[in-house]
Amino acid sequence: MSLRLIRRLTHLKPSINSKLYLQLSSKFAIQKHIVQPLSHFCKFEYCKPAVLKSCIITEFPRRINHQSTADMPEAKPFERLPQTLSPVNYNIRLKPNLKAFTFEGSEDIDIEVVKPLSEITINSVEIEVQEVSYVASGKSDTVKGTVSYNKEDETVTFTFPSEIQPGKGRMSMTFTGILNDKMKGFYRSKYTSPDGEEQFSAVTQFEATDARRAFPCWDEPAVKATFDVTLVVPKDRVALSNMPVKSEQVYEGDNKWKVVSYERTPIMSTYLLAFVVGEFDYVEGKDADGVLVRVYTPVGKKEEGKYALDVAVKTLPFYKDYFKIPYPLPKMDLIALADFAAGAMENWGLVTYRETALLVDPKKSSAKTKQWVALVVGHELAHQWFGNLVTMEWWTHLWLNEGFASWIEYLCVDFCFPEFDIWTQFVKNDLGRALELDALNNSHPIEVPVGHPSEVDEIFDAISYSKGASVIRMLHDYIGDADFRVGMNDYLTKFKYSNAFTEDLWEYLGKASGKPVAEVMSSWTKQMGYPVIKVTEKQDEKNRVLSLSQEKFCADGKKQEGEQFKWMVPLSFCTASSPDKPVKKILLDSTTAEVTLENVKPGEWVKVNCGTVGVYRVQYSSEMLQSLITGIKDCSIAPCDRLGIQSDLFALARAGLVSAVDVLKVAEAYINETDYTVWSDLSLSLGTQGLLIQSTDATDEMKAYNRNLYSKVFQSLGWEAKENEGPLTAMLRDLVLAKLGRNQEQSVVMEAKKKFLDFYNGKPLSADLMDPVYVTVMSNGDEDMFNKMLELYDKADSQEEKNRISRAIGAVKDEALIKRVLDFAMSDKVRSQDTVFVIGGVTGSVKGREMAWQFLKDNWTKLHDRYEGGFLLSRLVKVTTENFVTEEKAKEIEQFFTDHPAPAAERTVKQSLENIGLNIEWMKRDKDAVSAFLKSRNN
Ligand code: BES
Ligand code: ZN
Repeated sequence: MSLRLIRRLTHLKPSINSKLYLQLSSKFAIQKHIVQPLSHFCKFEYCKPAVLKSCIITEFPRRINHQSTADMPEAKPFERLPQTLSPVNYNIRLKPNLKAFTFEGSEDIDIEVVKPLSEITINSVEIEVQEVSYVASGKSDTVKGTVSYNKEDETVTFTFPSEIQPGKGRMSMTFTGILNDKMKGFYRSKYTSPDGEEQFSAVTQFEATDARRAFPCWDEPAVKATFDVTLVVPKDRVALSNMPVKSEQVYEGDNKWKVVSYERTPIMSTYLLAFVVGEFDYVEGKDADGVLVRVYTPVGKKEEGKYALDVAVKTLPFYKDYFKIPYPLPKMDLIALADFAAGAMENWGLVTYRETALLVDPKKSSAKTKQWVALVVGHELAHQWFGNLVTMEWWTHLWLNEGFASWIEYLCVDFCFPEFDIWTQFVKNDLGRALELDALNNSHPIEVPVGHPSEVDEIFDAISYSKGASVIRMLHDYIGDADFRVGMNDYLTKFKYSNAFTEDLWEYLGKASGKPVAEVMSSWTKQMGYPVIKVTEKQDEKNRVLSLSQEKFCADGKKQEGEQFKWMVPLSFCTASSPDKPVKKILLDSTTAEVTLENVKPGEWVKVNCGTVGVYRVQYSSEMLQSLITGIKDCSIAPCDRLGIQSDLFALARAGLVSAVDVLKVAEAYINETDYTVWSDLSLSLGTQGLLIQSTDATDEMKAYNRNLYSKVFQSLGWEAKENEGPLTAMLRDLVLAKLGRNQEQSVVMEAKKKFLDFYNGKPLSADLMDPVYVTVMSNGDEDMFNKMLELYDKADSQEEKNRISRAIGAVKDEALIKRVLDFAMSDKVRSQDTVFVIGGVTGSVKGREMAWQFLKDNWTKLHDRYEGGFLLSRLVKVTTENFVTEEKAKEIEQFFTDHPAPAAERTVKQSLENIGLNIEWMKRDKDAVSAFLKSRNN
């Protein structure tokens, strides 16, 4: 720890015994934090600066940036690039070679030097710099530099023979690089042209830290500059970048090539730059403000771009109105790329997507696909303001980008397509996921110190996205939409074309609302986890009096000894007489509280967390739960809340805090349920239970339990779509049929087989029925069906259909077929980015899980190399390990990753081991009772 820093902290004379967690990823961050309220340093308590007295520094982030060597952690501290100079404008020229998979480049960077220096260090990976020189502005004496690389730091250093003096100047260089096949930096993407030939396009993915693979640069989000881009490409190719084309000329060296230059970009971060060179068609439109929007598709598929075009054209004005800031660029391109690691990427003015996240075939795409495309487009376009115009200062604040976009994408879809009732789905997709992961001891706070690029990938996880989005939703509800909009506009206006810290957003939202936003939100972003609110009630004549307490919710049900966790929790309450609107709201800022709800009749149900907006679970007394069950049965409780009640109960049961059998009984109260999202979340809860029950002797009884539960809703839905039914009905039918098919409901299995064979023989099948038909046929089918399914895969010309099939085939039961699925996942037929879910598809059965894990071990080197340890590898590790139920397996997994370290998956491995531990506990505690219950029920 730096002595200087300790002195500065003790200088503040604090008093409570609080652990400190320093967020020091740069010198800049240190300064910024020290002048700001000290609450930023507190990991376990939100506390005002005035009450912080003595500081015990007990915990270090893995890499911190400090100046003294006293008490330094062993690892070499990560250093951000020196701030002795900065780039102002890059003039970049790149010439990709689509046959040799290399590129040639040159750049002139206008820089401003602050202090005299003779060395310049910037980021660069796998690039060879041929020549570098520097000339001061207005001078003519160019000095040449020498080049040295630092592989570990991902930098290149240029050394000049004489000192460069403060002032403006230009650094110029030429270099070569590789068009790699790792889906990062400047890379190649394979596609089949309409005439059946294998072709490549050259495309980019720079976030988080891979712009440095395309050109040497200051590859940090806070080092913003403008960019002049020129691409030299074969004449017949489409060439795109962030800005519109400024000029296009024949390439002097070869008239089969052209030189395309683009307008200068606004000042922006390097990770948002993009280039695409390939063959594409497009559809175009203009938004209400005249911004030109184009959706680029594979050749021959431009019809499939129309849906996304429609969404984008509506969405840009929606955000303009919400933020009260116009879209800052003259054009917006959205493009589908064949090889693409993430789902989509928000490059400013040139957003890149996986094909399945952008293309919609009006005849062959399902309602689920349309909804997904709308969400992804809504997400990436939100980044054009929140992320691109205002950018996080450092990756520690990544959640700000991703959490916010993951929240507002719902607002946008709700605006464009109210028929999706998308906010209810938020509760399942994001809040549910966040609560599940964040209950683990191996979770992490939303704001997490990161340094070296190898640590950045790891935080693109459900905490940054889903918990981030969930705390924003809670905050939005706490301060109200009107103040939220004002604060957002002030914040974006203040920091446009620059960078911000998490605290900056709180400051502006706090000012707009007059509420203690920073204090409340720090308790959610700086400490991991969330509370469970325990509640009991008393009735006096007219009123209901609730006793509440908060404690950290741990997935294992244990209390956290020693450490003080406390949240500032916006709580709300609704009742049978006011099911949709809270009858009261409070901010719980202590461990316990008593709340009186006036005029609540005896027997009336009372629900805590109205609308399931708060990021916490609720544990009710048994009387309160009993009355809520009546509200579930008669559907008088709102869908979000019906969903939330069972989700909390299943989590409490997993933690051993309520009886697993009781929860299975409560689940039966949902037999009258009609809401898609409630069913979907309940199915998830039951699916997790089902994975454990697979290791008991009550597997068949669990299937019968499921068949019974879903029978009523199936009766009302049937197989055929009714005229004018909404997308949620189609999605519910898909869900229910798949569930019944997997649970071997014979009538469903027979009809699915019939429909499948008809489809195989050329009869059309509705897109919304494909998923359940495929899954049912695969989980009840033989080798012949499997072969037919693979034939359909080969024939399919859309990635949506290929993905549907490759997800479904994992449901096969036969060992030889499971083996074929795993081999298929690694074959040329499946793109690298999809391998992960194809392997994941087989892990739903005991046998499949075992085989997938063995497969991962057998192919570890290949897989590790294929994903270069990135986030796809972490996902693969997660799906292949987390559902085991024995001590032996846990040991085996632990040993394997000790012998085969994967830094980006380190936390994932710990989370899996923790999950296995929870499963083991469940087996010890609940297995017999659950099995007995299921058996008695079916007698
Ligand atoms: N900025 C991300 C893309 C990204 C993800 C870059 C991981 C680097 C690493 C983008 O905005 C994003 O969040 N994409 C999501 C899809 C979205 C709809 C949740 C994704 O790729 O999963
Ligand atoms: Zn995003």
